[in-house]
Amino acid sequence: MALRELTGKTALITGSTAGIGAEAAGLLAEAGADVVVTGRDSDRGAAVVRAIADRGGRARFVAADLTDLASLHRLATEAGHVDILVNNAAAFPVAPTVSQDLESFDAALAANIRAPYLLTAVLAPGMVAKGAGSIVNVSTMAARIGMPGLSVYSATKAALESLTRTWAAEFSPAGVRVNAVAPGPTRTNMVLSTLGEDAAQQIAKTTLLGRLATPREIAEVVLFLATDRSAYLTGATLAADAGRTAA
Ligand SMILES: NC(=O)c1ccc[n+]([C@@H]2O[C@H](COP(=O)([O-])OP(=O)(O)OC[C@H]3O[C@@H](n4cnc5c(N)ncnc54)[C@H](OP(=O)(O)O)[C@@H]3O)[C@@H](O)[C@H]2O)c1
Repeated sequence: MALRELTGKTALITGSTAGIGAEAAGLLAEAGADVVVTGRDSDRGAAVVRAIADRGGRARFVAADLTDLASLHRLATEAGHVDILVNNAAAFPVAPTVSQDLESFDAALAANIRAPYLLTAVLAPGMVAKGAGSIVNVSTMAARIGMPGLSVYSATKAALESLTRTWAAEFSPAGVRVNAVAPGPTRTNMVLSTLGEDAAQQIAKTTLLGRLATPREIAEVVLFLATDRSAYLTGATLAADAGRTAA
């Protein structure tokens, strides 16, 4: 029986039409939160909302493309007051630095840095006014280790980890905690459709546990950071990478 510790709280989870975000949406809804599911794909968004409702949870879908400023502002307005913001959606450009195209470079900066930045800037003041709130940023182990082909992606996530510390310094004295989780290789469409199963397994073998994470295993860390179970954590980045960055 799940604790209903998020009853009365609203959680906005970007990139919750698939993968880690969809799992996090399910877990936070199970804990009692009203969840705002968002992404570009309305069909997948509707399916996530339906699955949550079927299990007795509360969720609604707001379509948004986080690279589009007007869309981003509409999302923030339609979400209304938010107690928990999970900056999870990301672009995953893969290219050697010498052949990285500028269009993907700019899109990754927009989705991975500018969107979390603007959502936080618009939504954190409401949390500050209430004296409570939790912001969870989803980073990656690649922010800490050099991985060929992931220059832009890794740099955007390193920036997000830096923002996690700055936002903690700015908002935590008012009771708003800001933390990040840095996952290792996880069985989602992002990795499997871009790198393929074999390359994903090769990366998984470099972790101490030798396997991919399930999206649920990462979503459990998001839930932990979103709730008061992590009441004394702020400005922290938790490595959920099967020890890849530890040894
Ligand atoms: N999978 C891994 O191995 C891994 C490892 C480390 C970190 N991460 C991080 O985990 C997070 C979630 O990734 P995932 O693996 O769960 O990926 P995923 O299954 O591909 O899901 C990505 C989500 O982001 C949304 N999204 C992507 N671009 C968007 C945009 N421009 N505007 C709005 N929504 C957008 C997608 O929704 P729509 O398609 O509906 O727009 C989808 O809901 C990311 O921050 C990623 O960097 C993943």
